[in-house]
Amino acid sequence: MSIDTAPSDLRVPSEVADLVFRAARTVNTFTDTEVTEEQVRAVWDVVRWGPTAMNTLPLRLVLVRTPEGRERLVSHMNEGNKAKTQRAPLSIVVAADLDFHEHLPRLAPHMAGARENLAGQQAARERMSRDNAFLQAGYLIVGLRAAGLHVGPMGGYDAPGLDADLLAGTAWRSIMVLNVGTAPADVEGVPASHPRQGRLDFDEVARTL
Ligand SMILES: Cc1cc2nc3c(=O)[nH]c(=O)nc-3n(C[C@H](O)[C@H](O)[C@H](O)COP(=O)(O)O)c2cc1C
Repeated sequence: MSIDTAPSDLRVPSEVADLVFRAARTVNTFTDTEVTEEQVRAVWDVVRWGPTAMNTLPLRLVLVRTPEGRERLVSHMNEGNKAKTQRAPLSIVVAADLDFHEHLPRLAPHMAGARENLAGQQAARERMSRDNAFLQAGYLIVGLRAAGLHVGPMGGYDAPGLDADLLAGTAWRSIMVLNVGTAPADVEGVPASHPRQGRLDFDEVARTL
């Protein structure tokens, strides 16, 4: 698939569009270069400003760095996702907090009684937390790429097993796992595991009424 890098109506330099979207690949192989706490904090500092419904911000993160934590995480990954998770310098369990409503007096003070209203609505909270955590996970992937990092998102794992182990005692429910690191030079800009696959064109995804 050809990547259009011609000048466009974007308000960011073309290199930025390449870094976070056009040239960015999903990466499964990483160098040993560490992903620092400071880098992840800097990314959160930016992506937390992305919008969520009612400003709920249900995204929660578990940063897995230690050999012990990594072993536990890998044990829940599908077979095809084990080796890459074992090798990543940082893996992030991305979760949705079912109890996000507890923060609403601070995050949505303009919505009087939001915490109390949602307290008795478990099904609505499950839906809202998952929808909005996925939205924030998208911001997070773009933010990590903007920090020059490479990301390999994965949905292939035993979610109930992972949640009962790594998220025990919390109201957090995992939605995906991200491997994060620096790709080897030969992976940058070339196929990570297979050739770049196509994308739908605007006219295939959009209708104007
Ligand atoms: C939510 C999500 C779940 C994914 N799950 C897996 C997975 O379990 N295993 C895997 O190898 N790739 C997984 N992927 C990677 C996608 O297949 C990949 O991002 C997509 O094909 C685009 O590849 P590209 O970024 O290199 O163009 C996942 C991606 C996302 C966003």
